[in-house]
Amino acid sequence: MSSVATIKREFIPPHLEVKGGHPLSGVLKVSGAKNSALVLMAAALLTKETLLIKNVPQLTDIEVMSEILLNLGAKVAKRSNSIEINSTSIHNAELPYKLVHSLRASFFCIGPLLTRLGEAKIPLPGGCNIGARPIDEHINGLKALGAEVEINKDVVKAQVLTKNKRLRGTNITLKYPSVGATETILMASCLALGKTTISNAAREPEIQDLAKMLNSMGAKVYGAGTKKIKIIGVEALKGTSHSVIPDRIEAGTFLIAAAITRSPIIVGPLIPNHLSAVISKLQECGCSISHHGNHHLKITPRDISGVDITTSPFPGFPTDLQAPFMSLMATAKGSSKIKEKVFEKRMQHVFELNKMGACIYLEKDTAHIKGVKELIGSHVAGGDLRSSAAIILACLSAKGNSIFTGLEHLDRGYEKLEEKLTNAGSIISREFDHTRSRSSFPNKTISEDNINTQKKAA
Ligand code: UD1
Repeated sequence: MSSVATIKREFIPPHLEVKGGHPLSGVLKVSGAKNSALVLMAAALLTKETLLIKNVPQLTDIEVMSEILLNLGAKVAKRSNSIEINSTSIHNAELPYKLVHSLRASFFCIGPLLTRLGEAKIPLPGGCNIGARPIDEHINGLKALGAEVEINKDVVKAQVLTKNKRLRGTNITLKYPSVGATETILMASCLALGKTTISNAAREPEIQDLAKMLNSMGAKVYGAGTKKIKIIGVEALKGTSHSVIPDRIEAGTFLIAAAITRSPIIVGPLIPNHLSAVISKLQECGCSISHHGNHHLKITPRDISGVDITTSPFPGFPTDLQAPFMSLMATAKGSSKIKEKVFEKRMQHVFELNKMGACIYLEKDTAHIKGVKELIGSHVAGGDLRSSAAIILACLSAKGNSIFTGLEHLDRGYEKLEEKLTNAGSIISREFDHTRSRSSFPNKTISEDNINTQKKAA
């Protein structure tokens, strides 16, 4: 009886429990791309007709975007992975801070609102967990198209003051190929008067997906996927039905999951060209990857060795897979270097991985990694979406059990992750029990050892 009295209970929020060391097998199914779906939903504001978007992942970010569209006066009907949006009667040009704050992508509404209503008032989305995220390129682009934009008390107020309330086509050169700014300018220029060119445009597949949907709505967009996009403004856009491209970041995460658990699996549907940089790094570090039909890849990991990566805009290695790839390198033979060149503060996973026994030393934007034989199950927390994915991959490969907290980040961008992983053989479950006995916690002392190993890696 006395032993029962000594067990301490500790509060933990909803979390995942992962039993590490179980191989994966079979197929990991890839959902529609979150980053595409979000911008396509905003683009629905450009037409008074109904838009049907298919293959939309069920995620909290998508929920928030739906709420934003409803708030603006649109009608939104969801049916499992499809969303029907009708924006005939949008009346509100102002987005509430609460919604903008929880979804940075809400800023995508600025271009369509300006075009439809001649004005938009959106609080600054601000920085976030991966560092400062300025919007100067979005604003400069809208100004170049003839919008009056002022930022007052952290609210961006944009207006079209011309008589006909239409933006004017122009030539815009981006200082950096920003994905978001390219999308903002693309949406704003579709219904502008005359021709717009975007030079140094981002080339990400999500931009090609947006252009494809806009063209099927009647827009005239040429060159999406290249550095120069040309848009000829049209008078109106119509409704359409469009299926979102597969999520290349989720697909990449699954390929890395196979590699880190040293399991041969099939991943898809996906578009291999969207993953060229990732596939070539996985091959370089010791995975054999082959086509399995037209839309799936089979990955067979062998001995994994350390390879260096530097993140860069598409078609370079995606910043969104930097963290998951670091988990893999933490368990590779030999050393590697990972440089983050897109976002300034995207290394939150380093501390958690070291807690699990990894040997990573961070120097400014570069992580120096010395591979270890195995990671150890621990109590770990995700600080942003992609670092959460990285940590879960580490938990899958670790020896022993892990508890992962940070579901609010994970659920933003990975649809039914634990269900998919469980179907492929992982032992992972979502727990809502807020208190657990201290004795059932994974070993937490590893972090102390790692303060020493980090120094050694340096
Ligand atoms: C999008 C993706 C995100 C991905 C990123 C880079 C969505 C919803 N999110 O984010 O998952 O990690 O692309 O592939 O699609 N910048 C400026 N000024 C600007 C805009 C951006 O300096 O006006 C800088 C940013 O601070 C960052 C870099 O450009 O350093 C890349 O940002 P950007 O390409 O715009 O990323 P997002 O569109 O925010």
